[in-house]
Amino acid sequence: MNLHDKLAIEHEWTTPIGSIDIYLPEVLRQTLIVILTKQGIVFTEHTYNKVNKTSEALKNFDNNIYNLFDYTDQKELLEANEIDALKEFEKIASKLIRTYIAKAWGLDEDSVIKARCFGNVQRPFGRRTAPHFHHAWDGVFVHYLTVGEEFNYPLFEKEGTNEKLVAITGKAERGRAKLDAQDPQAINSDYSGDLILLDPRPAIKMPYNNKAKTIKPEVGTTLLHPGYLWHETQTHTKPGIRVAIVINFNIENRNWDILPTYLI
Ligand SMILES: [Fe+2]
Repeated sequence: MNLHDKLAIEHEWTTPIGSIDIYLPEVLRQTLIVILTKQGIVFTEHTYNKVNKTSEALKNFDNNIYNLFDYTDQKELLEANEIDALKEFEKIASKLIRTYIAKAWGLDEDSVIKARCFGNVQRPFGRRTAPHFHHAWDGVFVHYLTVGEEFNYPLFEKEGTNEKLVAITGKAERGRAKLDAQDPQAINSDYSGDLILLDPRPAIKMPYNNKAKTIKPEVGTTLLHPGYLWHETQTHTKPGIRVAIVINFNIENRNWDILPTYLI
């Protein structure tokens, strides 16, 4: 496949947005979902609210920040086949990121790139992803592994079994095994999990509908955009978990890695 032709680049405002549908082999897709739900911090809602925590709690929080492409770090947590799956995914993502930086930014595909890979796992009515951008990163890659109506959490009937993932069933249709009486009912809303890209320019007088672009992610949707781009996600309301795998990346250059010194 010639990625250079397949990866679409649309210039929204002044920002190049890359998009392509990537259908991973089913085993690889499900393995990546399992890997993300094994991490110390599973749900996106638990990555907020750092205030009011003791320094010990903050230390634990920081210890749970992970990079899936740091294979020495993941060795204790993951099985050999899961490490292999991650490496397979890294190769695919690397080709896409390199195609994006060449086609969108005119950079050399063989540039040295540093990356951190992590996941975004949401359950129905988990915390909304508020507007943000990825500070200090050149670019962001996101691939949607499931957008709901597929898998419950926990993923397996019994702890430690590596059987088929638990699919959505009537008994736990809100995407979690134990429900509190106050838990909101999952609904298949029109807006569930929509990604909203926001015009990064400061011209606030422009009509809002020209400044926000909505994307409805589906399984396989893959997007690439500069790290400075503001974006947010509508609340995931569908039954079952919604899982995206994300890569923050930086392109190394002389300016970035050799010249700067630490400021006094
Ligand atoms: Fe983000």
